[in-house]
Amino acid sequence: MMNLESIKNIGIIGAGVMGPGIAEVLAIFGSSFDFHINLFDISDQAIENAKKRMEQDFVKVESVGIFSNDDLQRARDRIHYVTELESLKDSQLIIEVIPEKIELKQNFFKKIEDIVSPDTILATNSSGLSITQIANVTRNPERCIGTHFMNPPLLMPLVEIVKGEKTSDDTVSVMTDLLSSVNKRPVLVKKDVPGYVHNRLQAAVFRELMYLVDNDIMEVDDLETTVRYGLGLRLPVMKVFEMVDLMGLDTINNVLSYLYPSLDRSTKPPEFLKDMIAKGTLGVKSGAGFHDYSSKDMTESMKEKEAATFQLLMMMQQYD
Ligand SMILES: NC(=O)c1ccc[n+]([C@@H]2O[C@H](COP(=O)([O-])OP(=O)(O)OC[C@H]3O[C@@H](n4cnc5c(N)ncnc54)[C@H](O)[C@@H]3O)[C@@H](O)[C@H]2O)c1
Repeated sequence: MMNLESIKNIGIIGAGVMGPGIAEVLAIFGSSFDFHINLFDISDQAIENAKKRMEQDFVKVESVGIFSNDDLQRARDRIHYVTELESLKDSQLIIEVIPEKIELKQNFFKKIEDIVSPDTILATNSSGLSITQIANVTRNPERCIGTHFMNPPLLMPLVEIVKGEKTSDDTVSVMTDLLSSVNKRPVLVKKDVPGYVHNRLQAAVFRELMYLVDNDIMEVDDLETTVRYGLGLRLPVMKVFEMVDLMGLDTINNVLSYLYPSLDRSTKPPEFLKDMIAKGTLGVKSGAGFHDYSSKDMTESMKEKEAATFQLLMMMQQYD
């Protein structure tokens, strides 16, 4: 049976946006395990791009001053780049990070189980696809599991561990131990629901925001202020159910009783969103969405936001 100590070789499949970041997390924060990490992609170009981005990430981590240069060099040396699936045959853990298409993931899971040992844990970084449906194409679905990292993996502590119908408790336990030991904050999604939990919560907020825009109840800028300086400002220092407890369960029951019937219950995105898309208003990638980005350097802006998120994280630790 697999346990945390038996994990020596880890295969990360997909060197796009997320895969390299996951490799970095395991290489840097898993120093005491000294994992041998193989990053695999079907595209040589993706591997070359990943190498460049990872080097930039290592430089960023170095600038924070938590790790010595030697530690970071050892972390770099733990990551290997492979272009043959066969090179992953001795892996005790595979984390699949390929595009969000169920057939792609199912095909990969079918292929990899013929290469690795029957004990090898097969994880997917899917953002919301059914783990059960992915696992059911394999011979032993009990070792299949979801490990949903947030972007960027190096910075974001949350990882959803998603249990498929047949995922074993041992598989959950090994992945929980592993993610906790590399400084992540794993949470268990006990039932395999679409979007898991984080993206469902995000979608619930987006649905109501779209409704408020669509019905001309508030301007976008004021909605930003409402979310950021109301609910948003409380969250880094207060837990959500703690807020409910502070209000009083009798009070919240009264509020929700009159509010629930008026909340949006649409089962599809609003028409105005389709109209915006049809006009080529796609967000940052087209220069405008709900806000205008035409004169903004978004790469620079995202770097600043990442640095600020790091500071916020340090501060939040005392409110755990
Ligand atoms: N991008 C995000 O913000 C984000 C956040 C959380 C989770 N996810 C999830 O992570 C997964 C990967 O997302 P991404 O944004 O990194 O995708 P991506 O498109 O940036 O990268 C996917 C990589 O997989 C490679 N690939 C495709 N088919 C392959 C195969 N059969 N074998 C090996 N490599 C293959 C591609 O060449 C590409 O480099 C998806 O399931 C996605 O939903 C993404």
